[in-house]
Amino acid sequence: MTINIKQCNLEDSRKLQEISYETFNETFKDQNSPEAMNAYLERAFNLKQLEKELSNISSEFFFVYFNNEVAGYLKVNTNDAQSEEMGQESLEIERIYIKNKFQKYGLGKYLLNKAMEIAMERNKKKVWLGVWEKNENAIGFYKKMGFVQTGAHSFYMGDEEQIDFIMTKTLN
Ligand SMILES: CC(C)(COP(=O)(O)OP(=O)(O)OC[C@H]1O[C@@H](n2cnc3c(N)ncnc32)[C@H](O)[C@@H]1OP(=O)(O)O)[C@@H](O)C(=O)NCCC(=O)NCCS
Repeated sequence: MTINIKQCNLEDSRKLQEISYETFNETFKDQNSPEAMNAYLERAFNLKQLEKELSNISSEFFFVYFNNEVAGYLKVNTNDAQSEEMGQESLEIERIYIKNKFQKYGLGKYLLNKAMEIAMERNKKKVWLGVWEKNENAIGFYKKMGFVQTGAHSFYMGDEEQIDFIMTKTLN
């Protein structure tokens, strides 16, 4: 079993779109209407939008490979790319997704540790993320990884307002 990680660049936009669609669908389609899902997928993962995000120097994407197959991805934001004004001393994990068939093999932890490493290298004081209040699996994972709930914010799935818990881990 080999695990590898690679930072994405602009040329990865289609591959990124593919895995973004696939993992978002797998994670949320059972609990959301097709209309809301389609609206979100179209808005968040159209190629133009992904290319814009890949070109932002304050956002970084990584693919994780399991035996040479793309198994998941990570997106982290700093500075103004963060979805909330958390300031220069924070790093946001905006997306961390492992395909269903590769879950529970330690890949989520591997990506999360990558985000922590980046935060430490850049002398950040905390790492934070927003997670849908109904995403019990991810909340369980983040708690296991030492995150605690520090707030909440609104998130729009299409036109539907949902609540995201904000979870934070302070770095030493
Ligand atoms: C959440 C997610 C990233 C976790 O990744 P994963 O690869 O399945 O988890 P890992 O195998 O790396 O687990 C790491 C540790 O967390 C624990 N863990 C994983 N899921 C857990 C859960 N639901 N509750 C409690 N502990 C959990 C594991 O037991 C493991 O513990 P260990 O270090 O003692 O062995 C993955 O399930 C996923 O991509 N889910 C769908 C997408 C999603 O919801 N993303 C988050 C959006 S905010």
